[in-house]
Order: sequence, then C-alpha cells, then structure tokens
Amino acid sequence: MTSYIIRGGNRLSGEIMISGSKNASLGVLSAAMLLDGPCKIENIPDIADLNVMIEICKGLGAQIKRETDGSLMIDPRMINSWEATQDKVRHIRGSYYLIGALLGRFRKAVMFMPGGCNFGTRPIDQHMKGFEALGARVLIEYGKIFVEADELKGNHIFLDVVSVGATINIMIAAAKADGVTVIENAAREPHIVDVANFLNTMGANIRGAGTDVIRITGTPRLEGNATYSIIPDQIEAGTYMIAAGVTRGDITVRNIIPKHMEPLTAKMEEMGVATEVGDDWIRVRLEPDQVLQAASFKTMPYPGFPTDLQPQTTALLCTAEGNSRMVENVWENRFQYIDDLKMMGADIMVAGHTALISGGHPLTGAKVTARDLRAGAALVLAGLNADGETEVTDINKIERGYEDFVNKLRQLGADITRIEG
Ligand code: EPZ
Repeated sequence: MTSYIIRGGNRLSGEIMISGSKNASLGVLSAAMLLDGPCKIENIPDIADLNVMIEICKGLGAQIKRETDGSLMIDPRMINSWEATQDKVRHIRGSYYLIGALLGRFRKAVMFMPGGCNFGTRPIDQHMKGFEALGARVLIEYGKIFVEADELKGNHIFLDVVSVGATINIMIAAAKADGVTVIENAAREPHIVDVANFLNTMGANIRGAGTDVIRITGTPRLEGNATYSIIPDQIEAGTYMIAAGVTRGDITVRNIIPKHMEPLTAKMEEMGVATEVGDDWIRVRLEPDQVLQAASFKTMPYPGFPTDLQPQTTALLCTAEGNSRMVENVWENRFQYIDDLKMMGADIMVAGHTALISGGHPLTGAKVTARDLRAGAALVLAGLNADGETEVTDINKIERGYEDFVNKLRQLGADITRIEG
C-alpha cells in the first residue's frame, strides 16, 4: 500500500500554481462526448480520476490525445457505443455524467452504478428524475443503469435536493433535447458554470448557470471545433491555503479565481488569519507563533462553505485555541477521518452531523489511513503540523484529486516522502 511519510514542524512558505478543477474536468470531459465535432480542452489536471475517465471515453470509441502541454485533443465522432460498462466506471463518481452525454447523443445509455468516495449513501434519484422528465425510461437492475428515450423533449424540472451531479447531468442531456428545459433549485457551484460555459462554447444555449434556475434551449448539433480552458480547482486552492494555516506559514496560491475562495477566505479571517487578495492569487500569511481563534462552520451548497474543505478545515481547527464546531450538512457520514485525527492527539467529539473540536492540544505523528480523497488531505495537513513522523497509508485516494501533491508540498518546504507499499 503506497504511503506518505510526513515529518511535521516545517513552516510552509512560497507560491504554488493551482491546477484545473477535478470536478469541472469530469463534467466537461463527459459533455465533450455529446459533440458533433472535435474540441480542445486546456488546464485539465493530470490526476487519477481524470485519467480513468479518459480511458472510459476511449473505450466508447472517442479519440483523445493528451498534448505535451497537458491539454486534451478530443474527437467524439467515432463513439460507437452507448454502454459504459467497463469496470473502471465503478471506481469514480464522475462517470455518471456519461449517462447524460450518451442519452443526449444516442437517446440511450447503459452503465454501471458509479463509485466515488464512501461517506454515506450517494443516491442518484435526482439524476433519474431529470432524465425521466425529458422523456426517458429509467431502469436500475443488476448494478446497472439503463436509460432510453424515443425522443428527448425539454421540460421543467424542480430538483428536490440541491445536487451538483444531477444539475450537471441533466444540463448535458438537455443540451441536445428538443425545446427548452428549465432546472429549478439547481446547484450553483463554479464547476457547474464551467460545464455550461464549455457547452455554450461548443454551440449550446444555456443560460443561468451559477444561479438556482438554469434554462437550456436544446440545439440539434453541437459543432465543437473550439478550445476551452478549465477553471482552477477551488478545493485544491483551499487545501494549500489551509496548509499555510496549520503550519503558521506564508503561502500564495496562484492561478485561482478569488471569488470562488470567498467562503474559505472569510472564515480564515474570522480565525485571525491575514489574507491578501489579488486578481488571480491569494496570499495567506501567519506569524510562526500565531494563536488562531476558534470558529464555527456549517457546510452548505455553494456559495456556502464547501463540504470538500470540511476535513481539511477540521484539521486546522485542531490547531486553533478554544472550542470550534463543524456541522456537515451535505453528506451523512463525512467524519470518518476524525478517528485518525484522534490518534494524532486531536480532542474531537462527534454527535450526528456535528463535530465539536477542542483545539490547542498539540498533534503528534501517528500511522493513519486516507479513507477518502479529502479526508486523506486533512491527515496530511495534520501531519505537517504534528510533532514527529506521520504515515498516511492508502494515499492513492488522495492522488485521485490532487495533481503532483508531494512535489507541490515539497516546493513549499514540507518534509514529505512517497513510499511504494
Ligand atoms: C459532487 O458530488 C462532488 N463530486 C463532490 O466532491 C462534492 O462533495 C459534492 O458534489 C457536493 O459539492 C464530483 O463533482 C465528482 P451532490 P455529487 O449530488 O454530485 C444528495 C470531492 O471531494 N443527492 O451535490 O455526488 C446527496 O446524497 C467530491 O471532490 C440526492 O439525494 O454530490 C448529498 O446529500 C466528494 N439525490 C447531496 O444531494 C441525488 O440524485 C449533494 O450531493 C443526488 C444527490
């Protein structure tokens, strides 16, 4: 099992370039499978989840070539199958966007139920509700999803739950439906806007992405023949901003959209952290012996505090003085990593969706396990603060979503080594 060995205590400082957004890339790559012509996608991160998705798309017949600059040249015109039933599909969550793309392309799709981080049940009923509203028949059996429509007709869809995945999936399927589709109670995350902007660049007609009402006017063909650049990864950027916090360091994250970071920047300032905001960068600067104030957090859909920064922030709160609170409102069981933090000396009590953190207890190194992508990142952050050596095992989960994680941390002064298990 591959691990990271971290020796804590170094104050991280310097600049870091943020990569393209994992969650936007998964949606954009899937949407590209809808096109009637080629396209080029820039700023796609080189991470495991994306590389698995590229292989799945190639397995459908799409031609995809990664250029030396990291961009992807995609030609989906040779796609010859609506069945995404390779085993890889079960390993990642974002594969479910292919249902919307294949339904939009072929009026039918078959695929395994998706995988993804395990923090509770991850239903897809809202995705299916949207496809049925567009005229599709949906069947889930033998661990597969079967979706088929004689024709896709625009409709008015009110989501029962604010769902990033359902919003993106329905938007993709509706892009080539006949007529107008309105999605109400839509999620507003930056990566939803990115997928809408990509589709519009390729010929679609989508308005309102980023608000809770998205209007999609179906177009019969999406010619593509254009280039699109993925937005920077809001969660990667937040992780490095928090790395400055836990090491009392001084880090500038570059190639970001500061607006996307506001939910975190505001809360870090509440904790007493000084931040400086530029047009495409944020500097997070702390004094080596700075005392951080406790604070209360509630995860919410964007523009609320992102659930994907919840574990990393809880690690930061362990190093603050006083009692903090973290309420997880999006996922039913996203506190599994807290047992590992406790092994490192953290004093945290979990009651349902709330974690009560009694900060100020020095963290000490221990052997811990990355249970999911962001939980693993949180343990690395805790290790950067802890006294002694921390081994984080099962780090392939972390490398699903963080490009060049070890080198980027080393560049900032971290003592971290990757060891093949
Ligand atoms: C996306 O997951 C992200 N994954 C997650 O990031 C992120 O935590 C989540 O959005 C929330 O921001 C990708 O984009 C690949 P949801 P998704 O549908 O789309 C309920 C990471 O770390 N729900 O917005 O699966 C669901 O149970 C990953 O990068 C339904 O009830 O999340 C949850 O409580 C982890 N029915 C809430 O909605 C549905 O049909 C939000 O889920 C769909 C969702």
